[in-house]
Amino acid sequence: MRKQLFSAFFFLFCSISSAQTPTPAPSGPTNITAVLEKAGQFTTFIKLMKATQEADQINTQLNNSNQGLTVFAPPDNAFTNLKAGTLNSLTDQEKVQLVQFHILPTFIPMSQFQTVSNPLRTQAGNSANGEFPLNVTTSGNQVNVTTGVNTASVANTIYTDGQLAVYQVDQVLLPLDLFGAPAAPAPAPSKPEKVIPAKAPATTSDDTPADASAATATAVSFGVALIAAMSIKL
Ligand SMILES: *[C@@H]1O[C@H](CO)[C@@H](O)[C@H](O)[C@H]1NC(C)=O
Ligand SMILES: *[C@@H]1O[C@H](CO)[C@@H](O)[C@H](O)[C@H]1NC(C)=O
Ligand SMILES: *[C@@H]1O[C@H](CO)[C@@H](O)[C@H](O)[C@H]1NC(C)=O
Ligand SMILES: *[C@@H]1O[C@H](CO)[C@@H](O)[C@H](O)[C@H]1NC(C)=O
Repeated sequence: MRKQLFSAFFFLFCSISSAQTPTPAPSGPTNITAVLEKAGQFTTFIKLMKATQEADQINTQLNNSNQGLTVFAPPDNAFTNLKAGTLNSLTDQEKVQLVQFHILPTFIPMSQFQTVSNPLRTQAGNSANGEFPLNVTTSGNQVNVTTGVNTASVANTIYTDGQLAVYQVDQVLLPLDLFGAPAAPAPAPSKPEKVIPAKAPATTSDDTPADASAATATAVSFGVALIAAMSIKL
């Protein structure tokens, strides 16, 4: 009887302590998809990140670089608020740029936004060369992100671990480079689009300049080299 009671208590104790033990953090590097899935309401952004291979690239970068990353994540309603057809009007390469525009190549804690110098560099291109500029303005606790096309407000911090910061923004950040000219059609291609081979050679002039120039502009960080390498793969 005593033994049974003890067993019962022992069992109870074990159940309680195992219930209280937090599930161990998944081993290995941070997974941006898992972070956004857990936060909920980011299905469109996750889809875009997967379709453009950016999710994998971010995870690789988080595993390999110690500079960290900052992600501005628009929730699903920010995408539904876009003018109809906005995403569909973009080429695959432009979708990559749109996603990359939401990612800064350094970890920026909320408190640092007050002191960052504009324009901020994004993964989409080197703002120092006038590519894909992104500005942050702050007032008190409020942080706004301005693209030259629209202004989004940082709603809250979804995730931060000292290496990766993910902030929810209330609008999709529309880069000037893609949405700047009011409804200006892209320059007509010299050949009809259908004839262009799906696998454009990596030497195509419009495939590399952003990263190539970024790489020569400053000391090449490993991250930049990685981006360049992966862009060429696209
Ligand atoms: C990241 O998380 C997503 C969603 O939980 C999962 O499907 C994917 O396999 C994970 N990737 C890695 C590299 O663990
Ligand atoms: C993370 O980096 C380490 C060391 O470079 C490597 O061995 C490991 O396979 C990487 N893990 C993932 C999930 O990429
Ligand atoms: C941020 O944007 C909102 C809405 O556009 C505006 O009302 C507010 O004044 C802005 N705040 C800052 C700090 O720029
Ligand atoms: C961003 O900031 C830079 C430097 O202050 C400024 O020259 C530029 O006009 C700003 N762009 C936008 C869209 O606010």
